[in-house]
Order: sequence, then structure tokens, then C-alpha cells
Amino acid sequence: MSVNMVELRNINKQFGETKVVQDVSLHVKEGEFLTLLGPSGCGKTTTLRMIAGFEQPTSGSVLLDGKQVEGIPANKRNVNTVFQSYALFPHMNIFDNVAFGLKMRGADKRVIKEKVSKMLELVRLQGYETRTPAQLSGGQKQRIAIARALINNPKVILLDEPLGALDLKLRKQMQVELKHLQQQLKITFIYVTHDQEEALTMSDRIAVMNNGFIEQLGSPTDIYEKPQTKFVADFIGETNLFEGEISRVDNSYAYLDFGGKEIEVKNEGLRVGEKVFVTIRPERIKIVGDQSPKTNAVKLKGRFKELIYVGSVSKMVVLLENGKEVVVNEQAAGSETHDYINKDIYLTWGVDHGVVMKE
Ligand SMILES: Nc1ncnc2c1ncn2[C@@H]1O[C@H](COP(=O)(O)OP(=O)(O)OP(=O)(O)O)[C@@H](O)[C@H]1O
Ligand SMILES: [Mg+2]
Repeated sequence: MSVNMVELRNINKQFGETKVVQDVSLHVKEGEFLTLLGPSGCGKTTTLRMIAGFEQPTSGSVLLDGKQVEGIPANKRNVNTVFQSYALFPHMNIFDNVAFGLKMRGADKRVIKEKVSKMLELVRLQGYETRTPAQLSGGQKQRIAIARALINNPKVILLDEPLGALDLKLRKQMQVELKHLQQQLKITFIYVTHDQEEALTMSDRIAVMNNGFIEQLGSPTDIYEKPQTKFVADFIGETNLFEGEISRVDNSYAYLDFGGKEIEVKNEGLRVGEKVFVTIRPERIKIVGDQSPKTNAVKLKGRFKELIYVGSVSKMVVLLENGKEVVVNEQAAGSETHDYINKDIYLTWGVDHGVVMKE
């Protein structure tokens, strides 16, 4: 049976007059990896702190393992938090840092030794027991912080930008390690980040937050392929946004007019005159030399303006006749793309790849 390990019911949080978290409702299943993703100041840390018990909601309730936890202090909740700043005890050695939670619970010395050794093995830092935090690298400190959070065998681990201080390479490596650890231990993780790529790589589900609200909650594929709002489309990955008005509809298709140009989209209850956005990912667009007659495809004429190499992909900028620029990404673009520069070409994509949004 799948159990809701964490539930938020209509949570609001105000600091003075400022509404920081607004009507947030959320279920996190046992063993799930859920990420709160959003820009700086959108309320991620505040939400996490309410789950941990460091902060009380202004209204609404938090349930852990099916029970309301109002009034239960942080140290009595079966939840552990890992912070970006590691928060290791600088004067204690690694063994004592990891052992801390168990010692506080008055565990047996032999049990402590056994568990610390198991935890250090798990984070691949056996043999570091007698070092102090100052003698560890950033990645090693973070692994100790994780070991320390795991040792009490909590039901939920809350992680607030735990990899934020690491360089890109180490960060990517730790993402994979952390994900493996979570799958191995089957502990519920609630993870906070403002890095969309990190969220897409690690999570079972993502809650995209903006201004204290959850804009969209779904799997990484949902969030990426089917953004429901302009904010989500724009925040997650790179995209082309077309803003305009529905100019006509027939049975299966609708047509968006954006500055005198038209694109075809699937007609899912659209009305003529409706103002909408259409988003199309750069990797969904192809550049073709002529207007090849293909069904179920959008075709747009443009002028090939620029070709930029970004490692494994080529990024191409195409200027449409109405002045709108479109970005196209292609993996291993062929040499013919060089010949397109400053020439007229056609952009094409499958009608299904255009996602219509109303806000
Ligand atoms: N104790 C507090 N008193 C007053 N305002 C606060 C307090 N804590 C947070 N805020 C405000 O609440 C808003 C949300 O803060 P929060 O720390 O939750 O954001 P965040 O999404 O974690 O951002 P970041 O990515 O920068 O960490 C911010 O505008 C912040 O200034
Ligand atoms: Mg924060």
C-alpha cells in the first residue's frame, strides 16, 4: 500500500504582512523523491522548515506518516534535515559528528560504533573517523552531513540545496550518489533546489514554486514536456514562447496568430479570440531547406541568422519574417547548416509538440 509520508494541507505562511507560502497542498509518498523547485525567495526553505518543525504555518496543517504534527517540536519529529552549509560541529571529529544523533538518544556504545561504521561505508568515507570537518573537502563534508542525517533512520530526510556549494563536476557526481543512496535506503526525500537540471535528474516528482504558490506538480517528464503555465515553461529548460491570439479553429486544429504569422496547434477546447501562449522546445524544431509537404507539421519561413556551438549541441537562431527569433537545438548538426547562414530556410515541428498555455 502506498502511504503518504508527508502531507501538507492548505499551508499558508506569513511573516508580518508578507505572504511567503500560499495555499500549498502536497502529498509525498513513502520512499518518494520529491523536489521543491523555484527561484530565490519563492518559499522553498520556509516550506521545508514547516515540515521540519522549525517554523509554524500561519494556517493549514502538516501531517507526517498520517498524523498531525502541530505542536510537536522539531527534535521529536521523525525527520532529519541536511542544510547547504553542512552545519557540522567543527570541534568534533567525523566519528562524533556522525554519532551525534545516536548519542543524544542514549544508544549503546557498541551499537553506535557499528552504525557509524556502516554509515561511513555507505557514503564511502571509511577511515576518516578521526579527522575534523576542516580536514575534509566540500563534497566529503556534505557526505558526512548526509550520513549524520541518515543514522537515526528517519522516515523523511529534508535537504535544502545540499549540493549548492559544490563545483559543477562534483555536484553532478553527488547527484547520482545521493539518488542511489535514496533508492537503496527507500527513505522519503524532500529536496530543495533552484537548479532545474538537478531537479529533472533526481526527482520522482517536482513541485515548481513561484511566489509562494505551487505552479505545477508532476513528474520530470510532465513538467518538461507539458508545462501548464508560462512560468513553468520558461523556468524549466530553454524554450521558445509564442504569444498571440487564436485566429481560427477547425475540428482538430487551432491557429495562433503571433504578429501576423500563424502556427498550428492541437485544438483542445480553444476559442477564436482567446489569448494564449504556445511553447515549443528548441530540440523539437527542425530546420529544412525547402517547404517539404509533411502532414501534421507546422512550417514557418525564416532567415538563418546564427550558429553557436555549445558542446554537444548546435544552437541555431532563426529570424522570422515578423521579427520573432526562434532558437533551434540540434545534436551533431551536419555541415550543411553552415551553408544556411543568411539564407531563407523553413522551420518545422510536429503539431503535437507545441504546448498551449493560458497564463
Ligand atoms: N523569518 C523571516 N522573516 C521575514 N521574512 C522571511 C523570513 N524567512 C523568510 N522570509 C522571506 O520569505 C520569502 C521566502 O523565503 P525562503 O527562504 O523560503 O525562500 P527560498 O525559496 O528558500 O529562496 P532561496 O532559493 O533564496 O533559498 C523571502 O522573501 C524571504 O525574505
Ligand atoms: Mg532557501
